[in-house]
Amino acid sequence: MNILITGSSGWLAQTLIPLLRKDGHKVTGIDPKPSPLTTITGSIADRALVARTIRDNGITAIIHGGALHKPNIATNTNQDFINVNVTGTLNLLEEAIANGVDRFIFTSTTSLMISQTIRDGRGPRAVWIDETLAPLQPRNIYGVTKYAAEKLCHFFHAEHGLPVIILRTARFFPEEDDMAHAISQSEPNTKANEFLFRRLTVEDAAAAHAAALARSPEIGFDIFIVSAKTPFSPSDCEQLMTDAPGVVRRYFPDYESVYARHGWTMFPSIDRVYDAGKLERRLGFTCRTGFAEILRSLRPA
Ligand SMILES: NC(=O)c1ccc[n+]([C@@H]2O[C@H](COP(=O)([O-])OP(=O)(O)OC[C@H]3O[C@@H](n4cnc5c(N)ncnc54)[C@H](O)[C@@H]3O)[C@@H](O)[C@H]2O)c1
Repeated sequence: MNILITGSSGWLAQTLIPLLRKDGHKVTGIDPKPSPLTTITGSIADRALVARTIRDNGITAIIHGGALHKPNIATNTNQDFINVNVTGTLNLLEEAIANGVDRFIFTSTTSLMISQTIRDGRGPRAVWIDETLAPLQPRNIYGVTKYAAEKLCHFFHAEHGLPVIILRTARFFPEEDDMAHAISQSEPNTKANEFLFRRLTVEDAAAAHAAALARSPEIGFDIFIVSAKTPFSPSDCEQLMTDAPGVVRRYFPDYESVYARHGWTMFPSIDRVYDAGKLERRLGFTCRTGFAEILRSLRPA
C-alpha cells in the first residue's frame, strides 16, 4: 500500500514506519517537525498541502497519528488544538474521499474516556473501561478534540463508506501530568504496574496499527481500546480500589518476591482498568507484552 502517516517525526512513527516498510508498504510521512522519517515538512491543518501530498504520492491508505496531545496542553492554545486535531482530521478525511483512499486508521486515545470524576478516583470501585462506556465526557481540550475527530471519522464513514478504524490507545510512554500513581514508585516500577491495567509498549502500539490497516476494509468502521491484556475481571473492581496488591497476588502469587528484589512495590489502589478484549475478539490482535511478560523478565534466569 501507499500509506500516508501523519505525525511521522513522533514517538509512535519511529516504530510504526519501519514496521510498515518491512511489510513492503511505501510510506510518506508528514509532520511540521523535520526528521529522517518525514517526507513532507508541514501541517495537516494546511488543506492545500494535504491535497497535494495525497494526490502526488498516490496515497491509498492513511494512518493519522499526528496530533497535539496531552503534553501540548501546557504550550498550545485551544485554537491550536482545534486547528490540528479537528481541522487537520477533516482535511485528511475530505482529501481521502476526493482521492479514492480506501482505508483510514485514526490514532485516538483512552484519555477521552476519562471524565474528571473517573480521574478523581474516589468511587467505591475501580471503573471497568471498555468501548461501551457512556456518556463520554472528556476532561480537557486534548480529549475534546480527539473525540470531535472520532466523530468526524464516523461521519465520513457513514456518508461516504470510507473504512475507518479508531484505535483508542492507552499510554505507551510516560506523561508527567498524569503520574498520580507514581508518588512512591520509580519510573520503571510505575510502568511495570501500569501494564496491569493501562499501558502497552510502543512496539505493540505500532503492531496494532498494522493489524488495523490490514483488516480495515472488511471491518468497515469500529473503535477499539488498545492496551496490554489485563489479567483482571470486572469482579475484581471493588478490591482493586481498596487492596490492589491483594488482587495482583491472586493472579501472580510470586510477584511480591520478584518485586522485592528490585525494591519495587504495587500501587495500593487501582482506580480504572482498560479492557482491550474487543481488539482481541474482533481484530484478532493481542499485545505481546503484558504484566506476565514484564514479571518474567524480572525473575532471575
Ligand atoms: N504516547 C502515548 O502514550 C499516547 C497515548 C494515547 C494516544 N496517543 C496518540 O498517539 C499519537 C502519536 O503519539 P506520540 O506518542 O507518537 O506523540 P508525539 O508527540 O511523539 O508525535 C505526534 C507527532 O504529531 C506531530 N504533529 C503535531 N502537529 C502536527 C500537524 N499540524 N501536522 C502533522 N503532524 C503534527 C508532532 O510534531 C509529533 O511529531 C497521537 O495522536 C497521540 O494523541 C499517544
